[in-house]
Amino acid sequence: MTNYFELDESLQCKYPALNQGHQTLLLHINGLLRWVMEKQAGQPVPPPQVFDLLMDLLQYSREHFCAEESIMTRLAYPLLEPHRHQHDAMFEGLVRHTRDFYHQRVDVVVVTLFLLDWWNLHIQEDDRLLSLFLQRNPPPAP
Ligand SMILES: [Fe+2]
Ligand SMILES: [Fe+2]
Repeated sequence: MTNYFELDESLQCKYPALNQGHQTLLLHINGLLRWVMEKQAGQPVPPPQVFDLLMDLLQYSREHFCAEESIMTRLAYPLLEPHRHQHDAMFEGLVRHTRDFYHQRVDVVVVTLFLLDWWNLHIQEDDRLLSLFLQRNPPPAP
C-alpha cells in the first residue's frame, strides 16, 4: 500500500498523544489520496467508505484539537489564540466538506485537496512551531 506522506522527525514532540494524532490524520489523508489515484485511473471510488472516513476524521480531529489546545493552555503557549482560531476554521471546513460530499456537491478530489491544505498550511507550519515550543517544554517526568 502506497503512503504518499510520512511524518518527519521535526514534527515529533515528547507528547505521544499529539504525535499519534498527526499520524492518524496522515493515515486518513493517505487513504484519501489512494482513492484519488484510483479515480484518476478510472476505478470506482466507494462513496460510503469515503463518507465513513470523513466521519472518523471529524471525531478524531475534535479530540486532537482539544488535546493540543489543553497542552497549549497549560503551558501558556504564546500563539494559542491564533492556533485555536485555525482549528475552529478547519473543523468548520471539514464539516462543510463532509456535508457537501454526502450531498454529492463535491467529489473525493475536492475533499482531499482541502485536507492537503490542512496538512501543508496548518500541520507543517503552525503545528511545527508548536512542536518546537514543546521540545523546549517537555511534560514533567512521571
Ligand atoms: Fe495538530
Ligand atoms: Fe494544531
